[in-house]
Amino acid sequence: MASIYVFHGPNLNLLGTREPQHYGVRTLAEINQEVQGLAEQAGLNAECRQTNHEGDLLDWIQALTPEDFLILNPGAWTHTSYAIRDAISGVKVPTVEVHLSNIHARESFRETSLIAPVCLGQISGLESDGYNLAMRFAIDYQIGRTKE
Ligand code: DQA
Repeated sequence: MASIYVFHGPNLNLLGTREPQHYGVRTLAEINQEVQGLAEQAGLNAECRQTNHEGDLLDWIQALTPEDFLILNPGAWTHTSYAIRDAISGVKVPTVEVHLSNIHARESFRETSLIAPVCLGQISGLESDGYNLAMRFAIDYQIGRTKE
């Protein structure tokens, strides 16, 4: 069954205590609970995962299909990983990139996302609300497809 997946990249397991001036004070568990609640209310299945290992994320993306939907915060891999970009474009899974902080208003190395060009869009700087907005979009997208 097609699903919505929320994948979090490196260091996002530290949310709650990690640089709250950039990433807010909410924990990853709280963020996941909220987005999963939104999906459940809409009668959809959402699965959230976090990894500090790039190969794991590549394997998870490769296991998706174009019928799935991916909400992805690639963390620092946003700025370094051609491999993650190629996995998303190779699998053709519709993807929204999410960042808690505004990557365009920080250090210059964060301004470039290698991932954004293969995504439907990017949400950056809205802290944990960004995940909720991405989930609302994903729900509408997946429900819209069932009506096609
Ligand atoms: C981040 C932004 C990245 O630049 C950083 O490396 C992260 C978190 C964000 O959510 O704002 O780990 O993706």
